[in-house]
Amino acid sequence: WPAIAPLVAEINRLKEEKNAVILAHNYMTPDIFRLVGDFRGDSLQLAREAAAVEADIIVQAGVHFMAETSKILAPEKTVLIPSLEAGCSLAASITGPDVRLIKERYPNYPVVTYVNTTADVKAECHITCTSSNAAQVVEAIAREWDTDTVILVPDQYLAKNVAAQTDIRIITWPGACEVHELFSADDVSQLREAHPGVVILAHPECPPDVLQAADFAGSTSALASYVQDNSPNKVVLLTECSMSDNVAAENPGVNFVRPCNLCPHMKRITLENILDCLIEMKHEVVIDEKMRVKAKAAIDAMLALPK
Ligand code: 13P
Ligand code: SF4
Repeated sequence: WPAIAPLVAEINRLKEEKNAVILAHNYMTPDIFRLVGDFRGDSLQLAREAAAVEADIIVQAGVHFMAETSKILAPEKTVLIPSLEAGCSLAASITGPDVRLIKERYPNYPVVTYVNTTADVKAECHITCTSSNAAQVVEAIAREWDTDTVILVPDQYLAKNVAAQTDIRIITWPGACEVHELFSADDVSQLREAHPGVVILAHPECPPDVLQAADFAGSTSALASYVQDNSPNKVVLLTECSMSDNVAAENPGVNFVRPCNLCPHMKRITLENILDCLIEMKHEVVIDEKMRVKAKAAIDAMLALPK
């Protein structure tokens, strides 16, 4: 750490001076996650933190849709994202007008959107979900609408993985996470062969045959808790690379096998641009107020469900 110590010290000093907090997603590199992050977690945990934050400024160490979610939930705060290039292939796969067309075609079915979407998509949907509550949200909205069919966009794999856990029929959209779609069931068999006894954990954005072959699936924080609670001798996390680094730092007795895929969007966030963002107060997230209120209704519907 010595080379980055001055950067870390300056970021932490500016946070105090400006009354700012850093919300750090589990995919941040350990320097950000462990040394400057004030709140750490998966998408759902970070959204809950944003809604409760008392500081004046939120710096989102994550991707753009996460910063938008924070702004939607905390409109009176200044929300900054250190890089405008921190996008997401799922968020880029669908637009608000796409959702309007879906609703015209299926007016009797509720539309659930994964939080990995832009504010204009959320504004068109009835409720949001994350990887930690997708099945619960689908079942709750189906009950509320008294329907056996729910639309879940934009991640086709998450939708198929949820469909495997419920009797609800799910209509989806051909979006995918460019990081998780690269894992295959073949990878899982090869890992089991090369590392007998290895415990294989997968994120629900992976294709369904990967989840079927894995030992456990869950949100980024659920994967971290699984390792913490079970202390497996050898584990592989089929997800973004920084997860293993961050979970390994908390679990020194566990061996990590590391085939992983980098998320180029998450990796746009660096200590350097976090510092710039605090000095220059950029890039501020701004959302049209009418759109924000509609998007907030969809997120609030999710947050109101029992934890
Ligand atoms: P989590 O909500 O599980 O943290 O997932 C966010 C994400 O972008 C996964 O690719
Ligand atoms: Fe989007 Fe996938 Fe990156 Fe998550 S890992 S931010 S879903 S591209």
